[in-house]
Amino acid sequence: MKALQPTGRGDELVVLGDRAEPEPRPDEVVVEVEAFSVNRGEIFKLEAGTGWLPGKDVAGRVVRAAADGSGPREGARVVGHPPAAGWAERVAVRTDALAELPDAVSAQTAAALPLAGLTALRLLRTAGSVAGARVLLTGASGGVGHYFTELATAAGAQVTAVSRRGGRLAELGAQVVPDVASAEGAFDLVLESTGGANLPAALAKLVRRGTLIWFGQASRTPVTLDFFSFFDGPESGTIRHFHYADSDIPDGTDLATLVRLVASGRLHPEIGCSRDWTDTASVLSDLRDRRVRGNAVLTVSAEALAATAT
Ligand SMILES: NC(=O)c1ccc[n+]([C@@H]2O[C@H](COP(=O)([O-])OP(=O)(O)OC[C@H]3O[C@@H](n4cnc5c(N)ncnc54)[C@H](OP(=O)(O)O)[C@@H]3O)[C@@H](O)[C@H]2O)c1
Repeated sequence: MKALQPTGRGDELVVLGDRAEPEPRPDEVVVEVEAFSVNRGEIFKLEAGTGWLPGKDVAGRVVRAAADGSGPREGARVVGHPPAAGWAERVAVRTDALAELPDAVSAQTAAALPLAGLTALRLLRTAGSVAGARVLLTGASGGVGHYFTELATAAGAQVTAVSRRGGRLAELGAQVVPDVASAEGAFDLVLESTGGANLPAALAKLVRRGTLIWFGQASRTPVTLDFFSFFDGPESGTIRHFHYADSDIPDGTDLATLVRLVASGRLHPEIGCSRDWTDTASVLSDLRDRRVRGNAVLTVSAEALAATAT
């Protein structure tokens, strides 16, 4: 089958090539991939040049049911979150990392859900009740920021989103500011994913005993903190590390929640870039260089493959 293979080269992180068919374990189905989305963290892994096979967010059709009888039947439309190898015509996915799709949700829409949607949902769960809370969200232009803003405002939060491309975030109910310095605090909760100078700047806007959830470092610049700066406001504050994979609730269960919210019109994936999978390497460059708003979704089409071959 065809699949996107890692190159280890920064100018073209993946190329289409041949790969052996997946060999599913008894608790895995084989999904024929119709669409997938790409994530910043996957770029970081590809740049590390370890040979890791990319692809954690897929949507498509089950072409082989699980041998142990769990999960969806052959032919079911699904969205899934495999640990790797999903940028391919087919991928094995554990049945507890899948949710079935209703007809109303397209594969392209569903492919934008897994990593960014699970992260936003679990950030909200980690934060606890946000009804009435003032929340500062940095790095808000991507998939996580759009999902979190829609979910948190629906739950009663007042969200201030840091984004240079925040038109849709404003429609979703956020107050949008271009940088952390422009955010008018104080905030009960800060969600920080950019690192560098932004984390201490955002921390300074936290209320006394407030919480900062640290979930990324998009700038790739480590953070320096001054103990004494806490006395200027966020005294006795909590800084909490967050990884979406640390969840007691299976991915499939949370994916089913996200699908239900989308199908009922309460969650709207923001797909700022939609291309054919033969363009994946250039989409990865666009994402790395901050030219994508929301999620980037690639469609797996045999036609484009054939055209590339001629
Ligand atoms: N901890 C976890 O479990 C987990 C899970 C998923 C994602 N993440 C992280 O969460 C963040 C958001 O994910 P996503 O998929 O929504 O990401 P994304 O689409 O790549 O968006 C990244 C955001 O970071 C900002 N950004 C990028 N480079 C920056 C820089 N040098 N300085 C300041 N801001 C910068 C972008 O702002 P502009 O609009 O200005 O470019 C954008 O708002 C990422 O850092 C990602 O790695 C963490």
